[in-house]
Amino acid sequence: MLDSSKKTPSIARALHAIAPPSEDRSFAQDVVLGLSSTPKRLPCKYFYDARGSALFDQITELPEYYPTRTEVALMRAHAAKMAATIGADALLVELGSGSSIKTRLLLDELERPAGYVPVDISAAHLQQAANSIAADYPGLEVMPVAADFTRGFEIPRPSTGAARSVVYFPGSTIGNFTSDRALKLLQAIAGFVGANQDERAGGLLLGFDLVKPTNVLLRAYDDAQGVTAAFNLNLLERINRELNGNFELAHFQHHAIWNAELARVELYIRSTRAQVVHVAGHPFEFAAGELMLTEYSHKYTRDSIQSLARQAGFERSTIWTDPEQLFGVGLFQLAD
Ligand code: TRP
Repeated sequence: MLDSSKKTPSIARALHAIAPPSEDRSFAQDVVLGLSSTPKRLPCKYFYDARGSALFDQITELPEYYPTRTEVALMRAHAAKMAATIGADALLVELGSGSSIKTRLLLDELERPAGYVPVDISAAHLQQAANSIAADYPGLEVMPVAADFTRGFEIPRPSTGAARSVVYFPGSTIGNFTSDRALKLLQAIAGFVGANQDERAGGLLLGFDLVKPTNVLLRAYDDAQGVTAAFNLNLLERINRELNGNFELAHFQHHAIWNAELARVELYIRSTRAQVVHVAGHPFEFAAGELMLTEYSHKYTRDSIQSLARQAGFERSTIWTDPEQLFGVGLFQLAD
C-alpha cells in the first residue's frame, strides 16, 4: 500500500496565496464593496445559487454555447489517452465540478483511481453530483468538498493512499480568472500535484476556450433565447432576495462585448436609465447606460495557454483540440 500521509500536500496552504484570509468577505460585504467601486462590479462566484446553477446547466445545452459539447466530445475522443498518461492510482481532484458529466468520461478510463474529490461552491449541486457518481462507480471513494476553490480548503485523503494527484479543471473556468490570478492558481495546483509521490505523472487536466471569430464568441454569451441574460440578471434577483435589495429587473440588461486586446469576453449588467438602488440599507446611484462588470471569460491559443502553464512550472504539455479549433483540453505535467 502506498503511504501518502508523509507527503500529502496542503492545497489549502497553496491556495491561500491566491486569496489571503484577509479577503474573506460575506456576500453582503462583497456586493456592497463592488457596488461602491468605480466602475461597479459584482463577483461572479455568486452566480451559482440554486436557480443560477440550473440556468447554467441550461446554458451548457444552448445551440450557441459550443464549449460544453465540444469539451465533452474531446473527452470522449481522448479520455483513454489522457488516463493512460495520468497513470494508475491517481487521486482526482476536480475544481468547479458542477454536474460532473465530463468527469465520468475520465473515470471510465482511469486505472484504479484512488479517489475523487469534487470541489464546488454550490453545496446542493455538489452533493447531488457526488451521490450520483458514488452510485455509478462502486468502490470509488468520493469525497466532496463544498468550497470556493480560490480560497483555502483541505483536500481529503483517500484511505488507500494515492500514487499521484491530478487536478481536473474543465469548463474553461480558467478563463474566468485574470491572467495574474490564473497564474497564481496554476502555481498553487503545480505545488499540490508536485508534492505527491510520483510527481512525473499526474498533473493538471485543463479545459480552455480558444480565440475565434468575434460573432461566434459573442453569440455564446448572448444567446437568442436569453438564457445567458437570465443567468447574469439572476445575480440581481439573488441580491434582492438575500440582501434586501430593490433592483428593478426591467431597468437592467445583459451586455456582452469582446475585448480583442485582452482576448476576453466581458459580461456586464447595464442600467438602462438613471436610477438609485438600495442594497443592505445602502443607496447606489446608476447613470443611464452605466455598465456593471460581472464576469470575464478569457480565450486562449495553444501558445498562450502553454506559456501560462510553463510559467506555473508545467514543463510538459499535450493539447487536444477539435477539428474546428473551438476548444482545447491540455494535460500539463511537471518536468521529468
Ligand atoms: N466558464 C464559463 C465560460 O466562461 C462560464 C460562463 C458561461 C458564464 N456563460 C456565462 C459566466 C455567462 C457568466 C455569464 O464560458
